[in-house]
Amino acid sequence: VRNLPGVPKGTGQQVERVTIIGGGLMGTGIALAVLSAGLPVALVEPREDGREKARDAIARTIVRNVHKGRLSEEAADRQLGALRIVGKLSEASDADLFIEAVFEDMAVKRQVFEELDRLAGPNAILGSNTSTLDLDAIAACTSRPERVVGLHFFSPANIMRLLEVVRGAKTSPDVLQSAMGFAKALGKTAVVAGNCDGFIGNRIFEEYLRQAWFLLEEGALPTQVDQALEKFGFAMGPCRVMDLAGQDIGWSIRKRRAVEQPDRPYSKIPDQVCKLGRFGQKTGAGMYLYPDGRTPEPD
Ligand code: NAI
Repeated sequence: VRNLPGVPKGTGQQVERVTIIGGGLMGTGIALAVLSAGLPVALVEPREDGREKARDAIARTIVRNVHKGRLSEEAADRQLGALRIVGKLSEASDADLFIEAVFEDMAVKRQVFEELDRLAGPNAILGSNTSTLDLDAIAACTSRPERVVGLHFFSPANIMRLLEVVRGAKTSPDVLQSAMGFAKALGKTAVVAGNCDGFIGNRIFEEYLRQAWFLLEEGALPTQVDQALEKFGFAMGPCRVMDLAGQDIGWSIRKRRAVEQPDRPYSKIPDQVCKLGRFGQKTGAGMYLYPDGRTPEPD
């Protein structure tokens, strides 16, 4: 991003060690992106099965990259050797950049940021991958809101080029610069966003989604909606995107909206799909069925 008012020049602090908190869909994708930039990663995931799943997903993608000729065996070994998966933040608190990717739930994020505030070094950058929560409220859980910045990746995080760098009310210019430098090191296209609901991409995408769900309520099939929008120019139709991202994410956003903006109409269809436990690829069913029960590999 060039010539944007208020975006400081320079590269900021060099990031050399990254800890990612949360080893789910985003945490594993971000870990892959950071590993491929040659940086060591510690991934914190409290659930044992979550740690195994994360390790498998990361190793599978790295091995696939070798098979597809995108990565040498030596580089693959280096990446696998640079990954540490642990159960507690206290085992990985020596990073200069932390990226939180836990559930989209303010209470869970608060707990993580309070712990980060206790454990992280004074110069550490505290990043959050939140999609929709108020970054300033997250920053306020710490005694150092100037060190907090939004690092909003898009799924699959190891593939998608866009990274929204979210500037909170108190984010320091140095931290913003460092986040931009980190994005560049990852080969991402960074766009600075202000702290607003949905930032840029999701704020606009949510309106597309709302209309897609109304179309389903009016009788359209997911394939019809997706095919139309894919031919219209979208890389993926909205039903497929949400099956990939997790229908539960949209559900939690709609629950919050029902409290904050009770007059905003929503179709009931995606909530009914979620009530059936159909969260998308990760549960084997969403708007579509994934009969082999496993998440198809991102490219
Ligand atoms: P997920 O449900 O796949 O993974 C969350 C992980 O966090 C789980 O493995 C869970 O065990 C772990 N976790 C929960 N509490 C924890 C704690 N206290 N410490 C460490 N780990 C903890 O969720 P997903 O999809 O990876 O989303 C994570 C964050 O990324 C959310 O804030 C979400 O809004 C955001 N995001 C999601 C995108 C998507 O497409 N799914 C895209 C961009 C952002």
